Amino acid sequence: MATDSERIALMFNDIAPTYDKLNHVLSLNVDKRWRRKAVKRVKKSIAGAEKPILLDVACGTADSTIALAQISDNVQVKGIDIADEMIQIGEEKVEKLHLKDRITFYNSCAENIDFQDNTFDAAFVAFGVRNFSDREKGLKEILRVLKQNGTLVVLELSEPQNVIVRWMYNLYFKNILPLIGKRVSGNAQAYRYLQQTVEKFPMPNEFMAMLTKCGYNELKHKALTCGLCRIYQAKKL
Ligand SMILES: C[S@@+](CC[C@H](N)C(=O)[O-])C[C@H]1O[C@@H](n2cnc3c(N)ncnc32)[C@H](O)[C@@H]1O
Repeated sequence: MATDSERIALMFNDIAPTYDKLNHVLSLNVDKRWRRKAVKRVKKSIAGAEKPILLDVACGTADSTIALAQISDNVQVKGIDIADEMIQIGEEKVEKLHLKDRITFYNSCAENIDFQDNTFDAAFVAFGVRNFSDREKGLKEILRVLKQNGTLVVLELSEPQNVIVRWMYNLYFKNILPLIGKRVSGNAQAYRYLQQTVEKFPMPNEFMAMLTKCGYNELKHKALTCGLCRIYQAKKL
């Protein structure tokens, strides 16, 4: 029987060809702005580092991996993901942008990262933590591969707390989004899964408590676009 990670990888492999298009359509392109804001946090955290090496966990089709590499010419980025078809699309983009010498992809899961302890100056996870089959194990693995004083930046969707925004969000996420998702990708389940995983994701204070439990320090948190998305930042001391 397939494991949770195998099922998730199969689902993302299936939607890979339409993933980028749907991401931008379904978020009305706001996802680009969210990624930019989160990458800025990484940029600030590595200011002064000589040859920073960054990890993009659950890198998918590499939009954030590329944005991380574009922080500066001396940055090296390793992108890991469990879905080969997502990585393949990322590799094509990286080739077109002539960034192959600074970005490398690996099929590796967050819960068992194929890198040595204390390797990375910063780690980034955009819309990925929600999908980890064992969230605490993944967060501890990221902590292990971060250097001392290294920073983790997590960008994740969340359910808005304001009652009216939440009502509109539920209408869109539960009714409209799966229909558009099905029409464009042919996979209705993947877009129901999206809504269900956001619903099940811990509240901000719970996720911050999880980060602390996993060994992170100096936690910061910021809500974006009425709390539809959140940036979490934490440090390995
Ligand atoms: C919603 S996509 C996000 C992709 C990308 N970070 C972005 O910003 O568009 C989630 C990605 O997480 C990957 N993923 C899910 N569980 C994972 C795990 N345990 N380890 C590594 N990657 C995982 C999926 O294969 C998928 O590519």
